[in-house]
Amino acid sequence: MMPERTMNADLDKFPEGFIWGAATAAYQIEGAWNEDGKGESIWDHFSHQPGMIENGDTGDVACDHYHLWKEDISLMKTLGLDAYRFSMSWPRLLPDGRGRVNQKGLDFYSQLVDELLKAGIQPLVTLYHWDLPQALQDQGGWPVRDTALAFTEYTDLATRHLGDRVKFWATFNEPFVSAYIGYLEGRHAPGHKDLGEMLATAHHLLLAHGWAIPIIQKNIDSAEVGIVLNIGPQVPASDSDADKAAARQLDGIINRWYLDPLAGRGYPDDVVQHYSLPLDFIQPSDMEAIAVPIDFLGVNYYTRGVVRSTEIPESDNAPRVIFPNLVKTEMGWEVYPEGLFDTLVDIHRDYSFPVLYITENGAAFPDHIDADGAVNDPQRVTYLQEHLLATARAIRDGVPVRGYFAWSLLDNFEWAHGYSKRFGLIYVDFQTQRRVLKSSARWYQQVISGNAVVDA
Ligand code: FCB
Repeated sequence: MMPERTMNADLDKFPEGFIWGAATAAYQIEGAWNEDGKGESIWDHFSHQPGMIENGDTGDVACDHYHLWKEDISLMKTLGLDAYRFSMSWPRLLPDGRGRVNQKGLDFYSQLVDELLKAGIQPLVTLYHWDLPQALQDQGGWPVRDTALAFTEYTDLATRHLGDRVKFWATFNEPFVSAYIGYLEGRHAPGHKDLGEMLATAHHLLLAHGWAIPIIQKNIDSAEVGIVLNIGPQVPASDSDADKAAARQLDGIINRWYLDPLAGRGYPDDVVQHYSLPLDFIQPSDMEAIAVPIDFLGVNYYTRGVVRSTEIPESDNAPRVIFPNLVKTEMGWEVYPEGLFDTLVDIHRDYSFPVLYITENGAAFPDHIDADGAVNDPQRVTYLQEHLLATARAIRDGVPVRGYFAWSLLDNFEWAHGYSKRFGLIYVDFQTQRRVLKSSARWYQQVISGNAVVDA
């Protein structure tokens, strides 16, 4: 069922003080991969290996935000954003992962924050959006417990330097994707394919989160702290028991493996059994550390999974995700706004975190500049409209959603897809670095100024 397409002013209005934002991540926009003392990250390393990224793209230059940040902030101001979610590059601050500090890296983020505040835009900093210092990868990366300790040192440095001005902190972006795609599927950095490494990585990411939260709180009096998860409903493709079991399993792998321990419930038994490997990386008091109370959960929602078990070849024990033949984005992801409503309601019912932010939501479409210089992206407007209506309904049903961050501010480096997938509200010509506001950006501007979902 699609959300009701009403334009009734009261229904489509958001609560006063609702935070309107847009999001990016360091590796996807900054470029300047080896400038001003920055160390190599696992994404620099990975993208420099032939065959890893579509078209041989790299994030070496990306949106050149490292140099164009002032222009980008003035575009944010034009949009009227209340908040901007960005991530800090750990190897820009600590080129070797720990120890030696790169002052120029600190200065970059410090100036960025000052300029944002001057523009009336609240920063929400994600400490880790996938770009581990390569130096730490060389010592074993996330499967090694010590990396979690190194993360706490980085957290301490970042929050001591920016904590006087930045209130909102997220530790990790999508630990599932870091662990599963980076260490099991191998499509993301560091490109490993090892179930044991994947499980240890997931644990150490969660542990690093749990250890970092008290450090942020110690350094910043009024900090609001949380973590960002990718969450989406995994629904069975049919009523068959096999499909239901497969959907339940995938829900466990993607959603519950992270939500349950954060909520103090430990790893879900059914998924522990499914993996059937010893979780011998868990040490006493780890699960308590992971369950440290947080102020908010960030929810990244793009689509749902429709899960079928029957097409599984005998040799392959993994459930298959299929998408019904409906409207899809250029990622091949089904457009399913009802899934955002369900996700918000379910998380609130099952876990009741104090506050939810939608920290990412958006869509890739093949945008281009028209002859008259405009970029018209009506499909993105529809996508965003429908997802905002779903959000408004969840809020009316009592879910404490306090803000929404569109993914993304700018077209950018979409990981293994390189520059082939455009998610931005703002078009980027990667040859010239020219930015053009898409029609979705103009529309979002109206949404923000009216604090309501408006027609295109
Ligand atoms: C999310 C990532 C983000 C972006 C979107 C499309 O998984 O957090 O960086 O790539 O997907």
